[in-house]
Amino acid sequence: MVVGLLCLFVIAGSVGAQSLDYETYKATVEPIFLKKRPTHARCVVCHVSANHAFHLEPLNKGATTWTDAQSRKNFETVSQLVKPGEPLSSLLLIQPLAHSAGGAEFHSGGRQFASQDDPDWQAIAAWVKAAH
Ligand code: HEC
Repeated sequence: MVVGLLCLFVIAGSVGAQSLDYETYKATVEPIFLKKRPTHARCVVCHVSANHAFHLEPLNKGATTWTDAQSRKNFETVSQLVKPGEPLSSLLLIQPLAHSAGGAEFHSGGRQFASQDDPDWQAIAAWVKAAH
């Protein structure tokens, strides 16, 4: 069931991936993956591991952010995890969101966003919403 759902998300994501805006992603979405949230590990800490669908490029030694080439790869990956125009059908937004706020039942990385009012959650949602 879970696997089936994941496939649906992936297919939905790839259909409209071109319409997602890279510059907005780079400026407003990607920094969230590097940001430390109280009581949570940063997304990048767990999601550089290659066995994730949400797989981020490892940072270069000593770097605090990604090179443009790495960001482009991250963008491709992340684009597969969202449904353009529909934040609440997008795994990237559902998985780290508290279940009580409309999120997934379980995320090993914790309830990174307690509600849909979290400004970072909203920034990702705005990027997804702007695409058609
Ligand atoms: C402590 C480690 C950890 C952190 C921190 C973490 N995650 Fe995860 N995440 C996981 C694991 C493990 C999975 C695999 C499925 C599961 O157990 O939830 C996962 C699954 C996901 C998925 C589903 C796709 C996939 O790769 O399986 C998304 C999307 C996701 N996480 C987003 C995020 C976001 C966004 C953040 C930061 C705001 C974040 N995660 C932080 C461990 C983490």
